[in-house]
Amino acid sequence: MYAFTPDPNQPKAELYRELAESARALTAGEPDPIANMANLAALIWQFVPGLNWAGFYRLVEGELVLGPFQGKPACIRIALDQGVCGAAAQSGATQLVPDVHAFPGHIACDAASASELVVPVRRGGLVIAVIDLDSPDLGRFDAEDAAGIESLAEVIAAVI
Ligand code: SME
Repeated sequence: MYAFTPDPNQPKAELYRELAESARALTAGEPDPIANMANLAALIWQFVPGLNWAGFYRLVEGELVLGPFQGKPACIRIALDQGVCGAAAQSGATQLVPDVHAFPGHIACDAASASELVVPVRRGGLVIAVIDLDSPDLGRFDAEDAAGIESLAEVIAAVI
């Protein structure tokens, strides 16, 4: 068992620093990408408050395919020209969406989702996956959340 005890009241920058350090420790020496993504999804779920979905979509043969996650069952395959995840994977840029209903083509896997943050994970300059966070609260994510998950993406790129 791994005991991580994030403090929900700490400043976001500290929370994300601790999340990245915990992610590094949790995946150190483990080469299996599914095991690592499963633990990382659980770690994000434990650290980041106010989520209804957290997990991975992997870029497989030109489309996004569902990876390990926490939350309700989700869409399995997403084309790169679809949804917030597709936009992140195709552009290689973080998508910070304060109101998913205002995002053209948003895919509602969970009707409770109101805002979303999707961060591409790059290895060797190529997008290999995205980290997707959904929240039932409008405007849940800000630039600090985006920067924090981008740091996490860098830390985990070699182990997923
Ligand atoms: N809302 C995402 C689809 C994935 S689910 O949120 C888990 C999108 O529009 O790409």
